[in-house]
Amino acid sequence: MRVDVGSCALEVEDHGEGLPVILVHGFPLSSEIFSPLRPAIEQVARLVTPDLRGFGASDKPAGEYSMDVLAADVLAVADRLGLERFVLGGHSMGGYAALRFAALHRERLVGLILIDTRAEADTPEGASRREAAVARIRSEGGEGYLDEFVPGLVGPATHARAPRFVRELRSLAGDVPDHVLIACQQAMQSRPDATELLATLTMPALVIVGEEDAITPVESARKMAAALPHASLAIIPGAGHTPSVERPIPTADAIVTFLRALATPISVITPPRASRR
Ligand code: MLT
Repeated sequence: MRVDVGSCALEVEDHGEGLPVILVHGFPLSSEIFSPLRPAIEQVARLVTPDLRGFGASDKPAGEYSMDVLAADVLAVADRLGLERFVLGGHSMGGYAALRFAALHRERLVGLILIDTRAEADTPEGASRREAAVARIRSEGGEGYLDEFVPGLVGPATHARAPRFVRELRSLAGDVPDHVLIACQQAMQSRPDATELLATLTMPALVIVGEEDAITPVESARKMAAALPHASLAIIPGAGHTPSVERPIPTADAIVTFLRALATPISVITPPRASRR
């Protein structure tokens, strides 16, 4: 379905019924990365997965791709679909956008899912890597940069077990124009640090991380789960940075368990009255 978000139109998948769950993909991918999770999640929830602006089948306008812009797009999708309150999940760059959304519109969130992402801003080394990436894409185009970057999106176990996933992710990334690659690298570099924000996000949260993630490592996930007041942590064995593709079954299990707990009213077990003598 096409959803007009004001300055452009996004392609959005919307299936299932019940509690609405919006999942936002990372860089330089598309909502396709959530396809392996769909059958399980759609059993228990209404799953909404936009292609972010610049990615997949969405429009790819010039201009800003800041976390504020991406969060505003998520808000517009929720509003257009009439989703008053929902669970928001984000993978990597999608997680940076989800944290920004949570900072600005927490009242809309029933729960938060952070998948292979981090709250900390870029380190100086990380920022330099992004500057080098931007310079390279400007001078020679994005192909060579993506050829080097995409294999890092999965872990060593996946490289050994299912190398076709790297080819599939590379082909998803192949649709992303250079101006979007550049704008997203610049936007991620200037994203605000969300570390202090975490303690204020009191909604139930689930932090998921691939055990072999080399981009947003387990340590960052542990810190987020510890700082969020009501979070659980799921470490996915045999997965790197993209567990929804690498190990969809345990990833879907973690999400479905979280969603079921959200949907179940807390049952109060009344202790038997003390017998009166
Ligand atoms: C992503 O996977 O969305 C990005 O690689 C995250 C990042 O570069 O910080």
